[in-house]
Amino acid sequence: MRGWILAGAGMAVALGCGGAGASDVRSVIVECAACHGDEGIAKDVEVPNLAGQRRLYLYKQLVAFRKNARKHKEMRVMSREMNDADMRAIAEYYSSLPPR
Ligand code: HEC
Repeated sequence: MRGWILAGAGMAVALGCGGAGASDVRSVIVECAACHGDEGIAKDVEVPNLAGQRRLYLYKQLVAFRKNARKHKEMRVMSREMNDADMRAIAEYYSSLPPR
């Protein structure tokens, strides 16, 4: 009985840790989808598609928005929520989606 409880607690901790990083990025991407679309294909004609764009290019744009080197109010606000690892993961994610 005692063993089961300990095993259960260990598993919960393992699952919690394993999921943390990835689910963080997913929770950010949900916000991006409002403008850039669920699959990185934007609905609004003034918003660029991100799907299939080059990973390094996407990453550099996010860094530039964050530094305000590329000026855009909404993207500046969005990029402030990301750290370097998030920006790399997000660039990786969108570059892996099929372009349209
Ligand atoms: C309020 C709408 C909005 C939201 C939310 C938003 N974006 Fe954007 N994004 C834009 C617009 C508009 C541009 C074009 C900026 C410009 O004209 O320079 C842009 C540009 C970009 C670019 C540059 C694309 C290119 O081809 O140069 C990237 C990368 C990007 N967004 C990523 C994201 C990510 C990642 C998120 C979520 C964290 C996000 N955006 C959330 C509106 C938005």
